[in-house]
Formats: sequence, structure tokens, C-alpha cells
Amino acid sequence: MLAKHEIIEKNSTLLLVLILVVVSIGGLVEIAPLFYLESTIEKVKGMRPYSPLELVGRNIYIREGCYNCHSQMIRPLRDEAERYGHYSLAAESMYDHPFQWGSKRTGPDLARVGGRYSNEWHVAHMINPRSVVPESIMPGYPHLATTAIRTDDIAAHLRANAGVGVPYSDEMIEAAFVDLMAQSDPDADGVDELMVRYPKAIVADFDGNPAFVSELDAMIAYLQMLGTLVDFDSYQPEENLR
Ligand code: HEC
Repeated sequence: MLAKHEIIEKNSTLLLVLILVVVSIGGLVEIAPLFYLESTIEKVKGMRPYSPLELVGRNIYIREGCYNCHSQMIRPLRDEAERYGHYSLAAESMYDHPFQWGSKRTGPDLARVGGRYSNEWHVAHMINPRSVVPESIMPGYPHLATTAIRTDDIAAHLRANAGVGVPYSDEMIEAAFVDLMAQSDPDADGVDELMVRYPKAIVADFDGNPAFVSELDAMIAYLQMLGTLVDFDSYQPEENLR
């Protein structure tokens, strides 16, 4: 046996060919089934595209590099699920382009941070994390509170997402600006329509400053909806097996 192995080890071309054969068997086993599956992402009730305000918040999240310290993927391990809640489903990031799973956790996972804290807590925390978590090493982002969001390109953002497969309808794209403004003002006219288009959207003056829609409004709207769309009291993984 060993003597035969010596033949392979001393002949680099033969070694290379045999490596290729072995690796392609592994590849076939992993890749071939994907061609027969209708979809690798199970259909899950409750998932919807981001509302315009949430989408702006997500864009700021990416711009500020929050993913350098925060992941958005709860792994199916007991300690993870006990700390953060139900493990993340593929469907929960199906409308994320690009996804925000992250690979570094200097801070906690944020996949289910929605609803865990009040809007006021988030305002204080984003402006100066040490004001609510004294030992925090997270940087403050006070400029978000003083910067108005850019609104002129919101329809284009929805359209770009639609281009890569997010099911934004023409109606949603057309109403993007109205929906954006409605979500940050509970007294606005368009709130009912917003709720029809984006069920479970949270409508609030998130940063407590009614003077203008700030980047902080958008960021908190985004953080407060993370992980809240799927109802895990009624979620049945078996339902999704086809
Ligand atoms: C240098 C690393 C770092 C960066 C960058 C960072 N954070 Fe954090 N974050 C932390 C740490 C550490 C904590 C835990 C302490 C605390 O709550 O402040 C935390 C906590 C949080 C929490 C509370 C999570 C919980 O479950 O208690 C939120 C929400 C949050 N960060 C949002 C953000 C957002 C949004 C950004 C980008 C604008 C951001 N972070 C950028 C390190 C970071």
C-alpha cells in the first residue's frame, strides 16, 4: 500500500490528476442536487421587502460599516438561540442585497434586535453608547441625528433592488417618497397605505425630533424591524418541506 502511494507522491502529474478526480466527486455531491431543487430558500410567511425608510436605514448601516462589529446571523446552536432567539432562516435575508451576515462580532448579533429596546434607548445609544452601556466600546454616531436623509433618490433605490429580484411593485416604487415620509410621522395621511404595502412597519418619530427626517430616524426604523417579520410562535419548519 505504502509502496504504491510512493508512485503517486513521486509523480506530480499523476498526483494532480488524482486530486482533481477526488475533488470533483466532492463537488458533484454538493452541487448536483442544487439543479434539482426548485429553491434553496424555503418560503416563510411574513417576509416582505424593506419599507423605503428601513431601506435608507440599511444603506446607512452599510455606509457606516456597522457590519465590521455586528453580525446578522444567529446560528442553529443552543447558546446562540438562547441568547438571541430563533436561529436565522435563509428567507430572512432573501431581500438583502448584499446580505449582512457579517463575520465579526465585536458587538452582539443584531439579527433579532428589533423591539428589544425602546426608540429612546436607541437614540441615546447611537449618539453616545456609553450613556446607556457604560462599558461599551462602540463608537458614537451623533452625526446621524443632525443629518437629514437624502430623499430624491429613494425610488431609484427601490428600482435597483427590484432589478436584482426584490419584489417591489410599480406601485411601491411610485409611492416610495410618500411611504418614506409617512413612516416617520404617525400623523401623516399615508400611514394606512404604508401598512398595506409593508405589513408590520413601525410608524414613529423615531428620533423624537419632528423638525426633519434624520439619518437616525432611518437607522432606528431599520434596527427596530430586524428579525420581527417572521412570527416564530406559528412558524413550522415542516410546512416548508416540499
Ligand atoms: C467598533 C465596533 C462597533 C461598531 C463599528 C458598531 N458597534 Fe454597535 N456595538 C458594539 C459593542 C461592543 C456593543 C455592545 C455594547 C453596547 O451595547 O454598546 C454594541 C451594541 C450595539 C447595539 C445593541 C445590541 C444589543 O443587543 O444590546 C446596537 C443596536 C448597535 N450596537 C448598533 C450599531 C450600529 C447601527 C452601528 C453602525 C452605525 C454599530 N453598532 C457600530 C460595537 C460596535
